[in-house]
Amino acid sequence: MKWGQPGGNRNEGWIEDLNRHRTDLSRRRLLGGAAALGATALTAAANPAIAKWLPPTPMQPAGPFYHPLPPLSVDNDLVYHKGKTEPAEGDIIHVMGRMLDPSGKPIAGARVEIWQANIWGRYNHPRHANANLPDDPNFFGFGHTKSNASGAYRFRSIKPGAYPDNPNWIRPPHIHFAIFPPKSEVWTTQMYFAGEVLNDEDFLLQGIKDPKARQRVIVPFKSTGPKFESGSDLGVFDIVIGQPGVERKNI
Ligand SMILES: [Fe+2]
Repeated sequence: MKWGQPGGNRNEGWIEDLNRHRTDLSRRRLLGGAAALGATALTAAANPAIAKWLPPTPMQPAGPFYHPLPPLSVDNDLVYHKGKTEPAEGDIIHVMGRMLDPSGKPIAGARVEIWQANIWGRYNHPRHANANLPDDPNFFGFGHTKSNASGAYRFRSIKPGAYPDNPNWIRPPHIHFAIFPPKSEVWTTQMYFAGEVLNDEDFLLQGIKDPKARQRVIVPFKSTGPKFESGSDLGVFDIVIGQPGVERKNI
């Protein structure tokens, strides 16, 4: 079974998809046009003297809408939630990537959680109940998975809507991430969509003062191939956490 069907296999064949799309999206984001990620990571690991640390993904705050009573979701598919027969409303997106430490070593076995607003910008959270935005009964807005031996993860979801944080601030579409590495503290960030006008005015995104670092949380999306739903988009969001030269248990 494929994505797009209720109860389908949510993990089948996706490593191949990730590798294919990595070549034109992820590589230049992480390595600035250098050799392929895997090759560079291997080179660095084999010869520390020429190692080039990968730049870290900026942290971002978790915000007020982290789920209060887990688990509200059971897997990495936010389009068809278990127990629901209808899909969430919205444009389907696939978000995938790898979690790495600065040396390029995969972070395997990390729990990866995401949460986001629905198509109309409303969170499935008590604190957003008065937001005066439509609810989607088929969208929980939370998902989780675990990184595999290559540090890879993937989610299927819908593109979230923008929402007003206050009368002077509209948050652009974004997805919250919380990473729970096996031996270190929880780590959070937010992923943004390339090309959104609201990105330029967002207090949190623009709070990342280094333009290059800021770009590392802004993900370009493009049409998926035939293995995915027609009309869906795919973005690669590789996440580098930790500090160069510091053991992962200390990050
Ligand atoms: Fe948010």
